[in-house]
Amino acid sequence: MAVLALAMTACSGGGSGSDSGEASGASSGDKPWDGDASEVDVVTWWEAGSEKEGLQALEGVFAEQHSDTEFVNAAIAGGGGSQAKQKLAADLATGNPPDTFQAHAGAEVTDYIDAGQIEDLSGLYDELGLKDAFPASLIDRLSMDGKIYSIPSNIHRANMVWANPSVLEQSGVDPQTPPATIDEWIADMEKVKAAGFTPITVGMAWTQTELLETILIADLGADGYTGLFDGTTKWDSEGVAKAIGHFKTMMSFTDSSLYSEDWEPAMQPVVDGKAAYNVMGDWAYLGLTTQGKTMGTDYIVFPAPGNEKVYDFLADSFTLPVGAKHPGGAKAWLETISSKEGQVAFNSVKGSIPARSDLSEDELSKFSDYQRGQMTAFQDDEIVSSIAHGAAVPVKVSNAINDAVMKFAQGASDEAGLQTALVDATASLSSK
Ligand code: BGC
Repeated sequence: MAVLALAMTACSGGGSGSDSGEASGASSGDKPWDGDASEVDVVTWWEAGSEKEGLQALEGVFAEQHSDTEFVNAAIAGGGGSQAKQKLAADLATGNPPDTFQAHAGAEVTDYIDAGQIEDLSGLYDELGLKDAFPASLIDRLSMDGKIYSIPSNIHRANMVWANPSVLEQSGVDPQTPPATIDEWIADMEKVKAAGFTPITVGMAWTQTELLETILIADLGADGYTGLFDGTTKWDSEGVAKAIGHFKTMMSFTDSSLYSEDWEPAMQPVVDGKAAYNVMGDWAYLGLTTQGKTMGTDYIVFPAPGNEKVYDFLADSFTLPVGAKHPGGAKAWLETISSKEGQVAFNSVKGSIPARSDLSEDELSKFSDYQRGQMTAFQDDEIVSSIAHGAAVPVKVSNAINDAVMKFAQGASDEAGLQTALVDATASLSSK
């Protein structure tokens, strides 16, 4: 076993891989990832702020492992991929793909699979020994009819509340005792409002969808929420209506001048002591660390009320587009992001947890207590899929949900109208 583990590490750990620096000419071999490895054109949305640092950590490992392959950063700004996915769709449709691109594992990848735009990487999983490196639960979420089309760099949890303890104290809310239910949370927000602070902040559409999904999880329970995606929970049900009611109340506490902002500026009032709460994934951990903020004193974090034992899952993964100009470069990138070194360097910075489940205690010691806690939660909690981050629904459905939520926020906050819009937005899920 030890010998096998070592062999697998050597294989996935890279070095300057045998593929690196191969002669130019796309798809020169009989596997889609054989061919030109002179460079790799990588599309992500880790373009600015703290997320750029995460990408740089990965780039550092890539430079060590594949020194003959030039890393070309083709990142497109916009949290949650809000801009990148549109540009990618256009580039893929016109046959101008990058060598690899970031996509959320799960339903989001099905858009690209259905359109025949990305390669089946199952054979590369075998070559790199990845089927045993990732937990079976993750392999299941990545598989589509027995094939796997992307390789995950990380796992994130979306349903966390980031809060300013000083604002809470000044509002007469005990920061040590997070509210247990959505109703208790709203009661705390009322106190924060009365004290003259903004109770909760949201930014652009996807951040509002992320808030809505945590409320849906709380009000429907994990199974009820998951049923929204296979038709067993109806979008026109009472439970969804209740969640929309809660969402309306919370949105009434937000500052609408932030509705066009990305997640970092939308969260900033919490950091600056002007607002109490923000719901965001654990990439916020990196954002706050980058600002020199300390958990426990400068900010506190807890699962959204009603979400305590539920891990709202998403994973960033990377693909090999059909017709990539440097497939060997893409292979080198996929090797790095899935290698132990890549996963440790990237995730320890990014706030996420490694997708690999075979890291040693020494490697795990590089992670913060927050991340160690989330590793345990990923093992022990019930896992549900994020809507806002492509795990639960295809891009066109999440876009339609974002549009419905934004219309609600900018319009008359019509609850029945939002529910009808959500029914329409998700109609293609049940007709599948
Ligand atoms: C990605 C994260 C990223 C976040 C904010 C999510 O969709 O999965 O990696 O940090 O968006 O941009």
